[in-house]
Amino acid sequence: MSQKLAGKRLAVLGTGKLGGILLRAYLKQGLFDAARVTATVKHAEKAATLAKELGVAVTTDNRKAVHGADIVLLGVKPQVVGDVLKEIASELSEKTLVISVAASVPTNYIQQHAGGKVPVIRAMPNTPSAVGCGMTGICPGSHAAAQHLEIAQTMFDAVGRTVVVDEKNMDAVTGLSASGPAFVYIILESLAEAGVKVGLPRDVSTLLAAQTMKGAASVVLETGDHPALLKDAVTTPAGCTIDGILELEEGKLRVTLIKAVVKATHRAGELLFEK
Ligand SMILES: NC(=O)c1ccc[n+]([C@@H]2O[C@H](COP(=O)([O-])OP(=O)(O)OC[C@H]3O[C@@H](n4cnc5c(N)ncnc54)[C@H](OP(=O)(O)O)[C@@H]3O)[C@@H](O)[C@H]2O)c1
Repeated sequence: MSQKLAGKRLAVLGTGKLGGILLRAYLKQGLFDAARVTATVKHAEKAATLAKELGVAVTTDNRKAVHGADIVLLGVKPQVVGDVLKEIASELSEKTLVISVAASVPTNYIQQHAGGKVPVIRAMPNTPSAVGCGMTGICPGSHAAAQHLEIAQTMFDAVGRTVVVDEKNMDAVTGLSASGPAFVYIILESLAEAGVKVGLPRDVSTLLAAQTMKGAASVVLETGDHPALLKDAVTTPAGCTIDGILELEEGKLRVTLIKAVVKATHRAGELLFEK
């Protein structure tokens, strides 16, 4: 599949933080050929800087960028998606695959604005994609077929892992894995701060905290064991870990994290309707 993508024409509309992360990865890995990629941004100065950096055509003209494209990756903010689709609708057909990473924007909204029977995939990646460790949830619109899902899966596997979910769960994916890195950075920062409190130099403390979080996550991913079992294995009777766990329970860490994801999930459903 990755070889097939190299022959496809890609238009990335809205090459900001996330669009930029994805496009940089595609170019670095040769997933798409730079000569067949066009990117857009809103501001002309940004277009010139990006074109120089990435070595692809960058413009502020979405319609021109989409002309002849096989795949359109929508990386603009949710509130801008409708206007951008209006601009490009005349260039889209059932042969153009539209992939949107916009939070809160349903596939049927994109289909309605795109017109016709344009295949649409909605995706929700996260920023660790920048280091190839991303997590993306994807779901197909009603005109998308298995081959479209396969293309999207290849594009997001290039920056980490991908899971196909029902569209009704996309806001939950947003609240958990797309907002999640921010929650995890706060936990990591707190652990590092704790290390400083008990006498470690800050750089050592941050390394210990980050590698510990990465290690624990890797064990869950590699063994598939339940986190509670893994926690029990670290917790010696009458040892030090159980004392730490008691503090976490008293501070309501679990319920606080659950509430954070629930709030972020609800908020994810609101973004489209704000101007
Ligand atoms: N950041 C995340 O962690 C994350 C995770 C998952 C999904 N998302 C989704 O990704 C999308 C982009 O988020 P972001 O954080 O990457 O935002 P961002 O950095 O602000 O990027 C948005 C980009 O869109 C461009 N833009 C604005 N209006 C445009 C228009 N009419 N035509 C073409 N380009 C236009 C901007 O151009 P200028 O640079 O010239 O202003 C900017 O480059 C959002 O829909 C968000 O829901 C983000």
